[in-house]
Amino acid sequence: MAKLAVCLALVKLGESLDNGLSQAPPMGYNTWNDLGCKNMNEANIKAVANTLVDSGLRDAGFVYLNLDDCWMAPNRDASGRLQGNPETFPTGMKALADYIHSKGLKFGIYSDRGSATCQGLPASLGSEELDAQTFAEWDVDYLKHDNCHSSTGPNDKDQLFKEFGLMRDGLNATGRPIFYSVCGGGDNKPWSDIKYYASDPRGGGALANSWRISSDVVEWQSCQLAYLADAELTEYGSNGGFNDPDMLLGSSDGSARSLTSVRSRSQFNLWAILMAPLMIGANIRELDAYDLATYTNKEVIAVNQDPMRKQGRLIVMNKVLVPQISTSIWARELASGNVALLFMNNLRKSSSIVCGSDCWSELPFEAGAALDVRDLWSFGPAETASAVAGQDYQVDLSSGNGKSSLLIFSARIIV
Ligand code: GLA
Repeated sequence: MAKLAVCLALVKLGESLDNGLSQAPPMGYNTWNDLGCKNMNEANIKAVANTLVDSGLRDAGFVYLNLDDCWMAPNRDASGRLQGNPETFPTGMKALADYIHSKGLKFGIYSDRGSATCQGLPASLGSEELDAQTFAEWDVDYLKHDNCHSSTGPNDKDQLFKEFGLMRDGLNATGRPIFYSVCGGGDNKPWSDIKYYASDPRGGGALANSWRISSDVVEWQSCQLAYLADAELTEYGSNGGFNDPDMLLGSSDGSARSLTSVRSRSQFNLWAILMAPLMIGANIRELDAYDLATYTNKEVIAVNQDPMRKQGRLIVMNKVLVPQISTSIWARELASGNVALLFMNNLRKSSSIVCGSDCWSELPFEAGAALDVRDLWSFGPAETASAVAGQDYQVDLSSGNGKSSLLIFSARIIV
């Protein structure tokens, strides 16, 4: 019996990621939506590192500097190892890691489970253990592992869980805690449902620290698809890792992809409720004051990072035919006993959203309890600063198209 228990424990160890990095969603910056392939080079990465520090973003929690596709040379070296592209990264990846670490940041890198990355560069199929070792020797702190160029297609679950699993085991074997972020999809078609990365027993927290649950967020439509997919996966986000609805898009000029300012802030609000990784995907070296204010809002970040680690959920949806045209209310319960509520107006006009009985029944407050309401963007009492649990509470959103309001409801302490 004892033998059997030991065997079972060993099997379990081999099948899950054991690096202690699922305590809070990772925060940082990823190159893809900013530098793409064309501008991936050492000088730009160092400039990003400096900006993360000088802007205060690092101190706000954005510590990962993650290199996406296109850091690698077109060929492995003589010993079969991945190497940085000598033209764009002349001093090599370890030296770059040292620079990034010297700035108090963490160093992230990218590979792919297939025979090539999405941009056709060398990837990890058949070299998982060696690549994991190489990353550990470079002092890598985070790996985004993609899903392009697989031999049996992007959605062959047996194959993909096996191959992503090989990299997980390779990372485990290094003994270095490296955040493992699985980037499913591969074909990147918005109609491909990849929610199984969260729900399949071989996926979720058994596989990785985070897993993509939708295709790339490149504008508002794909952003909506991502958060709506995530709303169906609440239970998995609270279970050993994080659902990943992709990167944050800012509204600063000069970014390859962006949202309107209102929507970029709503994406930040939603990502806080959804306990999603916060990876800035904007032109960080020229981030405008508005985007900087968005990403350094400590109160919204605190919701995202809440130590209870309970992903928030969609509690009210009033849609006009499709959920993309709707008003909705989202809730996240916090360790303090307070609740963050997000009121979201996706109609094409101003609207009032009411937390009525269908909303209160989803919340942990006792009927009749007196509540204080704080607005996380005005850093003070909400326009309607108090509420009574069970009684209609109305939020007026003066414009639609993705405008939202993020409020904290807390039970008033009666003295
Ligand atoms: C895929 C991923 C993106 C990015 C690119 C890089 O499309 O989903 O996030 O990593 O590959 O080629």
